Amino acid sequence: MEHDFSYYRGKRVLITGGLGFLGSNLACALVGHGASVSVYDALLPLYGGNMFNVEPVKDRVEVIIADIRDRARIGKAVAGKDVVFNIAAQTSHVDSMTEPLLDVEMNCAGQINLLEAVRNSAPECRIVYAGSRAQYGKIDRVPVTEDMHGRPTDIYSANKIAGEMYHFVYSSAFGLKFTSLRISNAYGPRHQMKHGKYGVLNWFIRLAIEGKKIKVFGTGAQMRDYHYVDDVTGAFLLAGMKDEALGEAFNLGGPEPVRFVDMVKTIVETAGSGGYEFVPWPADRKAIEVGDFTADTGKISRALGWRPRMELGEGIRRTVDFYRRFGKEYWR
Ligand SMILES: NC(=O)c1ccc[n+]([C@@H]2O[C@H](COP(=O)([O-])OP(=O)(O)OC[C@H]3O[C@@H](n4cnc5c(N)ncnc54)[C@H](O)[C@@H]3O)[C@@H](O)[C@H]2O)c1
Repeated sequence: MEHDFSYYRGKRVLITGGLGFLGSNLACALVGHGASVSVYDALLPLYGGNMFNVEPVKDRVEVIIADIRDRARIGKAVAGKDVVFNIAAQTSHVDSMTEPLLDVEMNCAGQINLLEAVRNSAPECRIVYAGSRAQYGKIDRVPVTEDMHGRPTDIYSANKIAGEMYHFVYSSAFGLKFTSLRISNAYGPRHQMKHGKYGVLNWFIRLAIEGKKIKVFGTGAQMRDYHYVDDVTGAFLLAGMKDEALGEAFNLGGPEPVRFVDMVKTIVETAGSGGYEFVPWPADRKAIEVGDFTADTGKISRALGWRPRMELGEGIRRTVDFYRRFGKEYWR
């Protein structure tokens, strides 16, 4: 079913993390739907912020270079907004274990800053929070439904739960309108390609394009749920406009689960270069590995009519094409 996004025509929208992967794809879509878009991003070097990401809409978005930890700036930025897409975060599981307090600053204190700003300056606006599959951590069965409680294996995952919980608290205590989308493994154009600390599917595409060997830890038999960025963007748009989304957390996932190693094979075949080899799990990765993960997306399908559309093979092909054209903007 095609969705009607004319709701966004003339709406004033703020996207934190709007120069990053998910945020910039959303910004481009929102401009196309006639929204007045402001992106708010600190462009911190480790993450995916990149001015090139908003190149196609650069004359039609307001770019605010600022940090969500800066109370005054975030307060000013949310004032008068109709919808806030709350996407900025510390995004690396690995770094959250070596710099746990940085993760707390960004993914906990930064979230409270944003919620306080909305409460004080735009209490009627809607907030969509970028939650994560990581919130489930180690789980006993798949596919995972929203009512399951997992055991986070790293600080990032624990703090993503805290971030979502703060939204529930501000909703019940102060009436703020929010929705959380628990994203699985998103991939596609505009993802950072500087390192493989997060977004490994995209990182493997770079390795394959460069003719390198991808290292598959262990047997690569673990199941994963990959979804193309346009599908994620669609879910954000629906969550920001439909009343059925208010006060809810929804899983996102791909059209079908895949084994990790099959994702790698598809990349190598599609790129026509590179290769892969099996290596033992490094200790720091093994310690935070969660095993099989697949998401049950029935809840968002029933409530908002969302379904993932992009098949993995076609999504990888489009992503390879994008980086073959624009790789120099990301190979840094
Ligand atoms: N991509 C995925 O597969 C995935 C999966 C689960 C959850 N998520 C969540 O989605 C969100 C975005 O992820 P992404 O893949 O687009 O990552 P990304 O690194 O491409 O984007 C994050 C953006 O936030 C900005 N940012 C980081 N800290 C900031 C701060 N303190 N103040 C202002 N801006 C800041 C970065 O500069 C970057 O542009 C995150 O909240 C992440 O936890 C993503």
